[in-house]
Amino acid sequence: MFDLNTILRPHIITLTPYSSARDEYTGKEGIFLDANENAFGSTLDGSTLAGSTLDGSASEEHYNRYPDPHQLAIKAKLAPIKGVRPTQIFIGNGSDEPIDLLVRATCTPGSDSILILPPTYGMYEVSAAINDVQLIKVPLTPDFQIDVPAVLAAILPHTKLLFVCSPNNPTGNLIDREAIITLLTHFNGLVVVDEAYIDFADTESFTALLDQYPNLVVLQTFSKAWGLAALRSGMCFASEALIEVLNKIKPPYNVSGPTQQLLLKALNQLPTKDAMVAQILAQREELIAKLLNLPLVRHVYPSDANFILVKFDDPKAVFDYLIDQQIIVRDRHRVKLCEGCLRITVGTPSENEQVLAMLKTYANRLTTTV
Ligand SMILES: Cc1ncc(COP(=O)(O)O)c(C=O)c1O
Repeated sequence: MFDLNTILRPHIITLTPYSSARDEYTGKEGIFLDANENAFGSTLDGSTLAGSTLDGSASEEHYNRYPDPHQLAIKAKLAPIKGVRPTQIFIGNGSDEPIDLLVRATCTPGSDSILILPPTYGMYEVSAAINDVQLIKVPLTPDFQIDVPAVLAAILPHTKLLFVCSPNNPTGNLIDREAIITLLTHFNGLVVVDEAYIDFADTESFTALLDQYPNLVVLQTFSKAWGLAALRSGMCFASEALIEVLNKIKPPYNVSGPTQQLLLKALNQLPTKDAMVAQILAQREELIAKLLNLPLVRHVYPSDANFILVKFDDPKAVFDYLIDQQIIVRDRHRVKLCEGCLRITVGTPSENEQVLAMLKTYANRLTTTV
């Protein structure tokens, strides 16, 4: 039976969190002289930028006030969309923030470890390094799935977290659901399923299993399907007990007032998000089909995300040529299991056409110079 207290750092269990002014008085009306704000207004008053209020709901310009430290209005709106309770939600400054908070909450520097499944998103490794936490790497199989027996064999007594990215970055594929469930069942630490690209995949989110697996953590983000990367806003879904811990250790006002206000607006625009996802998916399929027709392309990996991993004979030369044409893709050819690969984000129809045209021009130059 999973017991959260066995995987938290002991001093985190007993930590007394900072109590902000907005924690101590949660009323919305009154003369607020408790947070050392500027009662006269802000340097942005009168500007055309939208303002934020204490609950992040109105659009009057009140940049001078601290925002809701717990983003309750956002959680109330987000919970029914995601099919979870508001108390199962943590909102972070990007999903990179909960990645770091999870490492800090559970791993004692110098003695505990996390387990990752490369090739995968780079921040798990960086967060481990920042926190002086040992990293255990168990590579994905050549078809980019989990080698479950190898993972179970690699877990050490002090392994606290296991990161599974699904759909995985940079490979683009969904990870087998049953394999993740096996890890949830057999690993006595937290299994963090990073679903940054879930909106582009034809599958159910692991959030549906939160009540079944107390050691499950699901990460999602507003940076991809929602088109809000500039806001720096991510979601973490977990047991109420773990969300309370993340709330205890986060900086008091980690999501800014303008961000909260814009997120509330965005959450009313679900159909816009869905329409953009549909366009991206149609473009993804078209781009894949056209890439497959280019003799230059050695392999196009199937994608459940908004990017495609593409294998070339000479990836570095293709990458440099595209850069010269001011088309910037992600070079992944040095990453183990991604040898020869570039990662291409699905763009607008015209951007995709330009990538394809440049790849054709590059191939023609090769044949004419041979
Ligand atoms: C798998 C994965 N997780 C998390 C993130 C971070 O997202 P955010 O913008 O929410 O910090 C990214 C960003 O590219 C990602 O690819």
